[in-house]
Formats: sequence, structure tokens, C-alpha cells
Amino acid sequence: MEKLIFAQGNGREISFMDKIFGIAGKAAAMAEKEGRDKVTDATIGALLDDEGKFVVFESVMEGMLKLNPVDFANYAPISGIPAYIEVVQKYAFGNHKPNMFTAAAATPGGSGAIRNTIVNYSKAWDTILTCDWYWSAYHTLATENYRKLDTYNLLTEEGTYNHASLKAKCDEYLAVQDSLLLIINTPAHNPTGFSLTNDDWAKVIDLANEYGAKGKKITIFVDAAYIDYTDNPDESRTFLKLFEKTNDNVLAIMGYSASKGFTLYGMRVGAMICMTNKEEICKEFSNIANFSCRGTWSNGTRAGQQLLVNLYNDKEMKAKVDKEREENKAMLIRRGRAFEAAAKECGLEIVPYDAGFFASIPCANPDEVGELLHKKGIFLVPLAAGLRVALSAVNEAQCKMIAPEVKKAMDEYYGK
Ligand SMILES: Cc1ncc(COP(=O)(O)O)c(C=O)c1O
Repeated sequence: MEKLIFAQGNGREISFMDKIFGIAGKAAAMAEKEGRDKVTDATIGALLDDEGKFVVFESVMEGMLKLNPVDFANYAPISGIPAYIEVVQKYAFGNHKPNMFTAAAATPGGSGAIRNTIVNYSKAWDTILTCDWYWSAYHTLATENYRKLDTYNLLTEEGTYNHASLKAKCDEYLAVQDSLLLIINTPAHNPTGFSLTNDDWAKVIDLANEYGAKGKKITIFVDAAYIDYTDNPDESRTFLKLFEKTNDNVLAIMGYSASKGFTLYGMRVGAMICMTNKEEICKEFSNIANFSCRGTWSNGTRAGQQLLVNLYNDKEMKAKVDKEREENKAMLIRRGRAFEAAAKECGLEIVPYDAGFFASIPCANPDEVGELLHKKGIFLVPLAAGLRVALSAVNEAQCKMIAPEVKKAMDEYYGK
């Protein structure tokens, strides 16, 4: 039968199915039928406490309740309220603001920052590069905006950052494109929990500078959505100073999100922040951000922006938020370490995990192995190269249990 097409997709083949929500639905159905205690749902990308309750920072809610009605009702300026533009850079850079020209624009979460960067720093139908383990929304954001997405290998055989693969892909595309947008999600990468070291970053920047010196324009988008969930968030920001070495053909943009760091997923608060050694490029950034915001969502959420400003400027409130975040982060890291140790003990290979909401297991048949796990009440997300475990959604005991169960399911599937 001929396929019915009414939406004028302008040449795009749109077949959007969200696997994660599909599997989460199966987990919920099983919990309903057989009881919640029979189900381990490690699909959800939000932070849940050890009893499975959605974590909401009390301090953030306290700040929300202190907002004025007009903060909710009024528009925000297109690029964000000026105080937010200032404060969001303080949150994002912490003690490691590079000595460069910087500017910020408010975006609806980190997703908005990715969208505006794609549209302004790559050309229609060009290819954008990220690594082979990646957050699937990158593909949607790229193709929705008439770009292609390709990948290099995140890891070497030894489990370190694969510079050679990155260089090979950059060479390939820069032979046919005069610019390249590179998206790097670190620290605490989704879906693996991997983080680039400062040495890795120095090499990435050297590589970008090499192309820049030949006249190519390189934009490095640092997706820092999970930066506050590392062992040491201050230390995790030290790489930002390395951007000071970029030449004028290399632009760094940080995607900042309040979704996880303030448990404000639904308020859509984020920012895109540029770092450049050239003032004109910084001014151009502010202009294009303003234009793109206007041409898409118009204005961000004023209440969310004002809330982050208030929480920063009130020392007592800031300390409260930091304390709550620290406690929850420690809970998450404990889960990650428990999962790592259990994997090691049973001989299950995992992608090197540093920190964050997720860990991943390389597997050639993630759908099939995932189905075997469903029979045991364990629900993980199958990805192209393996299975993703949402450490954010399960407690330490479940983390310890998941690793050997995955190992058993893989042995069963591969007939060991
Ligand atoms: C890798 C990554 N980047 C960015 C985001 C941004 O999310 P939001 O748009 O909710 O801030 C997420 C959220 O899941 C993510 O996993």
C-alpha cells in the first residue's frame, strides 16, 4: 500500500519512535501486573531516590515559591533576563572561567543550546560529528534541521578516548566541508558515564587549531548537561581554561542545563555560552542567538531564569541548593561505583565509567539481550552499540544485581 504522506517533510524521512518511553511502558505494565518489587526499571533519565521517588530539591522549590506572580506571567527578554545571562556563566564556569570573550543566551534547557548551535554553526546538509555512543536526541536535532550526523569511535581498544578515530573523521569531512561542528558530551557522558581527561581536551583543541590554521572553521560544542554530577565538579571544570589556546577559527560553545543540576527538567532552563579570543565572534554569537531564539521559541521561561538568579544571589539559599545537590550526587556516585564493582566481579565488560546518570554495556545484540532481561523484570535501554543502565533510577542494591544478570543474559544469548 502506498504510504500516506501529508506532512511536507522537505525531503526528510521522518520515522520517529522513542524507544525509551516504549520500554519504560513495558516496565510499568509489568509492575502493574506483578507488583513493583518484581521490576527494576533502569530506563528513566531522571534522578530517583532509593525508594524510586522523583528527586525534587526542596531548596529549589522554596526559591520557586518565593517568586513573584509577575516572574511567572511576564515575558523574558528574547536572549534571557540580563541578570540570568550573567549568573548562568557563573554557574557554568565556576572558578574556571577562561580569560576570553564570553557571552551567553538563555535557551530552553541544554536542548535549545544544541539546536541553536546546529543551526548557526553548521550548514544545511553538512555533517555534524559526535561519538558512536551518543544521546539519540542529537540525531533528531541534526536531521530536524536538515543536517546529517556521523560518528567517530569514542574508545580505543584500551578504553581511552579515541583521538585517532576523531582525527580520521574530521579529515574525512573537512576534505569536503569548510566548517565542522563537533559535539562532545563530557563530563559524565550520556549514555556511558565516560569523561574526557584534560590531556584528551588538550589534544582535541590542538587538532581543532590545526584545521583552524588551514582556514577551516571548527565549532566545538561542549554538552555539559551532567557537569554537576561528577566526583569533583570544580575539578571537572578545569578543562575550560584550555580553550584559551584556541585560534580565531575555533569557537567553543558550552551547553548548560538546569534540568539535572537543579532538578528543573520541566522548567526548560539552560544556556548556550560562547568562548572565543575574538570580540567580533562573540558579538556575532549574541546576535545569532537572539535571532534564533526569536525565530523558534521567542522567549524562555522567565520564572526559571529568575529562580536561578535568586538562588545564586542569596548566599544561604545557594548553600542549601549546593548541599542538596552534593548529597544526591554522592548517592549517584555510590550507585555507579557499586555497578562498576559488580561488573568487575562477574566479568561483565562495561564502558569506562567516570560519573553521571548512566553507564553502558557494549553488546552486539542489545534488543535480544534486553528482551531476555525483561523476563527477569529488568528493563534497560538498547542502543546501537549496547545497553544503557540508568543509574539515576535504581538503588545501590539494584545496581549490584543488574551487572551479573546482564552477564547471565549475555552468556545465555551467546550460548556460553
Ligand atoms: C546528553 C544530554 N545533553 C543535553 C541534555 C539536555 O536536556 P535539557 O534540554 O532537558 O536541558 C540531556 C538531557 O537528557 C542529555 O542527556
